Amino acid sequence: MGERVYLYPKWIRAWHMINALLCLLLILTGLSIQYSEPGSGLIRFDIAISIHNVAGILLSISYVIFFLGNLFTRNGRHYRLEPIGLLTRLWKQGRFYAYGVFKNEKPPYPIGKTQKFNPLQKVTYGFIMYVFVPIVILTGWGMFFPEIIIDEYMGVNGFMVTDILHITSGFIISIFLMIHLYFATMGRTPGEHYKSMLTGYHEEHD
Ligand code: HEM
Repeated sequence: MGERVYLYPKWIRAWHMINALLCLLLILTGLSIQYSEPGSGLIRFDIAISIHNVAGILLSISYVIFFLGNLFTRNGRHYRLEPIGLLTRLWKQGRFYAYGVFKNEKPPYPIGKTQKFNPLQKVTYGFIMYVFVPIVILTGWGMFFPEIIIDEYMGVNGFMVTDILHITSGFIISIFLMIHLYFATMGRTPGEHYKSMLTGYHEEHD
């Protein structure tokens, strides 16, 4: 039995739960809005729009909490990237996910007190939380208040660019979610990391 380490503070667990539920709601309603022909959408168009708007507003609030939480608590240190040697570390972790894990090899960057993310998690969580979620939120607000969007720039329609950025980053977040759910099963048992996200604790392996 290894040592029990507390890795997921209460606020990050609460934020993550709310963020996950809102993202699922936004993806479902977003897809409904995108593919809706009258009567054929998964959720009725006007209802989907209302839920999407409310969930988007709540997601913006929860994002501010995530951002400030990581700025002012020690959780933020897990997102800091050390560029020197990053490619080698990413390669090692990628090789483990693609090969080593099936050969029962030990993870090259085991979860512990000082590092809860492996290099690939660090980069993907960083990109999702500090690039794509902010883009989806800002462009969402842009379409909520279209008067703040630049009408046209060098012949290109500002609303269209905002919309394309919104759906592209929404799509990237949806793909991330699928990969995230799968990779989160790669603990000692498939449920280990899910349990940690509920209790806050991770058991260190030897
Ligand atoms: C049903 C939905 C989801 C489930 C079941 C889930 C599950 C998990 C689990 C088990 C962990 C801890 C282990 C690990 O780091 O891999 C985790 C961490 C994390 N997840 Fe998710 N996730 C979901 C949705 C999302 C979404 C939609 C996002 C972002 C848009 C997200 C972002 C994160 C981040 C940033 C962490 C690390 C948090 C920290 O410790 O600072 N997750 N998730």
